[in-house]
Amino acid sequence: MDNTTVPRHVSIIMDGNGRWAKERGKERVFGHLNGVKSVRACTEAAVEEGVRYLSLFAFSEENWSRPESEVSALMDLMMVSIRKEVRTLMDNGVRFVVLGNRSRLSERLNASIDALMEETAGNERMTLIIFLSYSGKWDILQAAKALAKRYAADPEGLERVGISDFDSYLVTAGIPDPDLLIRTSGEQRISNYLLWQTAYTEFYFSDVLWPDFRKKEFRKALRAYSKRDRRYGKVK
Ligand code: IPE
Ligand code: IPE
Ligand code: MG
Repeated sequence: MDNTTVPRHVSIIMDGNGRWAKERGKERVFGHLNGVKSVRACTEAAVEEGVRYLSLFAFSEENWSRPESEVSALMDLMMVSIRKEVRTLMDNGVRFVVLGNRSRLSERLNASIDALMEETAGNERMTLIIFLSYSGKWDILQAAKALAKRYAADPEGLERVGISDFDSYLVTAGIPDPDLLIRTSGEQRISNYLLWQTAYTEFYFSDVLWPDFRKKEFRKALRAYSKRDRRYGKVK
C-alpha cells in the first residue's frame, strides 16, 4: 500500500463479542476470550502495514454497569493478556499504553499495566493504546477540571488557551487524533468513545463481529480509508 494513504492512527471500537459467543451457544466471556486473538491479529497487521498508532476501546466507563461476573472476567482477561503478550510486543517493537480512569482499576491490574508500560517504553515501531475504563465525556471533563485548576489565578492566561492547549490536558496528550475509526459488529454509534479527538476522523463500520475481525478485515478497512477524500471543510 502507498505509504501516504496508510493512516497514522487507527482506532477500533471492538464490538460484538457477546453476540459471537451467543451464536455458538456459549457464555459471553467465550466471545471476549476469542476477541483477544483479534487484538493480536490486528496489532500484527497494523505493524506490518506501517500504522504508527493503534488504539483499541477495550472497556468503557459505562461497561462497569454490566453484571459483576462479566466485569471481573474481563478484568481477569486483561490481567492474563498483559502478562502473556510481553514477548510479542517486544519482538514487534510495540510500545504499550493504557489510557482511561485508572483509579477504578484494581491495584494488581494497575501494577501489571505499569510494569508493561515501563518495559515497552523504548519501543518505537508502533504505539498500542488500550482504552480501559474510558469515556469521551469523562476525558473532556477531567481536562476541563485540570485546566480550571491551572488557571484559577490567571484569567488572562485562560483567555489565551487555544484548541491545541486543551489537547494537552486530555489523556491522549501527545497522541495524534485518529485518522480512521473502525467499529465492528454492525453498530453505528460512538458509544461515548473519543469525542473531542474524532472531529475529523474517517469512520468505517463493519458487520463482522470482533472475534472474526482478523488481518483480512483490518486490511480491508485500510483499503477503504485509502479511497477517502479528507477535505477538513476546505474546497479542493
Ligand atoms: C465488546 O463486545 C467488548 C466490550 C464492550 C467489553 P460486547 O461485550 O459489547 O459484545 P456485544 O456487543 O454484546 O455482542
Ligand atoms: C462500546 O461497546 C465499548 C467497547 C467496545 C469497549 P458497547 O457494547 O459497550 O456499546 P453499546 O452499549 O452497544 O453502545
Ligand atoms: Mg457491544
